[in-house]
Amino acid sequence: MPGKLLATKSIHTILAEANAEGEHSLKRALGPINLITIGIGGIIGAGIFVLTGTAAAQFAGPAIVISYIIAGIGCIFAGLCYAEFASMLPIAGSAYTYGYATMGELVAWIIGWALVLEYAFGAATVAVGWSGFVNSLLGFFGAQLPFNPTPKVSFALFGHPVAAQVDLFALTAIVIITIVLVVGVRESANFNSTAVMIKVSIVLFFIGLAAIYASAHWSQMVANWHPFIPKNTGHFGQYGWSGIMRGAGVVFFAYIGFDAVSTAAQEARNPQKDMPFGILGSLIVCTTLYIFVAGLLTGIKPYTTLNVPAPVADGAAAIGVRWGVILIDLGAIAGLASVMLVMLLGQSRVLYTMSRDGLLWPWVGRLHPRFCTPYITSIVVGIFAATLAALFPITLLGELVSLGTLLAFTIVSLGVWVLRVRHPDLHRPFRTPLVPLVPICGMVVSLALMLSLDAPAWIGFGSWLIFGLIIYFTYSRKHSKVQRLAAAKEGDRAIR
Ligand code: ALA
Repeated sequence: MPGKLLATKSIHTILAEANAEGEHSLKRALGPINLITIGIGGIIGAGIFVLTGTAAAQFAGPAIVISYIIAGIGCIFAGLCYAEFASMLPIAGSAYTYGYATMGELVAWIIGWALVLEYAFGAATVAVGWSGFVNSLLGFFGAQLPFNPTPKVSFALFGHPVAAQVDLFALTAIVIITIVLVVGVRESANFNSTAVMIKVSIVLFFIGLAAIYASAHWSQMVANWHPFIPKNTGHFGQYGWSGIMRGAGVVFFAYIGFDAVSTAAQEARNPQKDMPFGILGSLIVCTTLYIFVAGLLTGIKPYTTLNVPAPVADGAAAIGVRWGVILIDLGAIAGLASVMLVMLLGQSRVLYTMSRDGLLWPWVGRLHPRFCTPYITSIVVGIFAATLAALFPITLLGELVSLGTLLAFTIVSLGVWVLRVRHPDLHRPFRTPLVPLVPICGMVVSLALMLSLDAPAWIGFGSWLIFGLIIYFTYSRKHSKVQRLAAAKEGDRAIR
């Protein structure tokens, strides 16, 4: 029956679930500062430390600052929509739950499945970047390892021989983070707070260092900023305004993660007030830091020299502060670790909620008797992400992450609008301003960024969605609690 695909979980059921607390629920252990640090923990990572240089050198030049502003504005539109939902429906599961409440089970499933791209694939992408920084730090000290950190393996997949390079550092990073996550959300939040403190200090350190340098070398900085928007080469995306847009598509990755705050809603002590604070606060802090870093970096070094694995550390080297390079490498290592933590935390919480709704197997939602964390899921997701990180290149993983995230942003923005029309009177502790303008802008920017991504990523994305739909139609639809309830009601009516 096609109508069943549109079965929505009643908004009142979801609100009741959000308020229900019992021995089997997640612990409400997170305060406002924990939430804002979860946001910053998820945001500042490979994007600012690596992609700023790559995107400036290849696409936008010094105008990468404008790319950051465009991507940041797009995220603020989406963030305003996430904040309304997260304050109204403080339940683990985030965009997936919002989709269930507004557009039905099939859309909810698609978002939940797309979020695996964002979180599990995202953690894997960042793990590969993390491994790069560990290698660079070891290289800086001239350390020789007694083993090869990237051995080659060959195996057969569906009868075809496959040769791959295993990234042992990336794999180890995911294993350690998974252990922290199984032990508990408060421990995870503490680990995250420390990592956030380190990485924000390092970003501020770079900004301070660069500002001092700028005051002494202002005319050289101005020369590097000129031309601010390099002339387009005649190809779409290579400098000029199309390059700025392409740059925005690439540095969008640097903003991914603020939405992970909403996946921890069920663990927040005062979600109505603290969710918008966590989401918007972390986004505003990071946008400001990004604009300064991008502007100063392209002033210190000509943008053509920035296509390197660690451009921000190279910036410190160009200023002549050798120990600054070590600090920035260490900051990136801590920073990327917290991004992985937030993403893996978000992933297990989304799957936990899908399992409680009957869309995934019951073991997915099982909580550890002592730690109260969805430990089996955390471990399975950890193994999955570690395998991706060990075997796949960062570029393919990164584009899939962006597509999955942008799809979720689009549906969440649409969802806010739909719910305002369908249930205008619901209590909304935080209201997205200017509806429907802000949701429409959120959708338009997200779709434009999706279209700027490559065909191979779209093929991977399409295949992932088809795989998800097979699971939905063979398992989830039959076990869905909402569908069963609807069937039971129909049965009662038939008997009467
Ligand atoms: N925003 C995160 C990063 O830059 C995903 O690493």
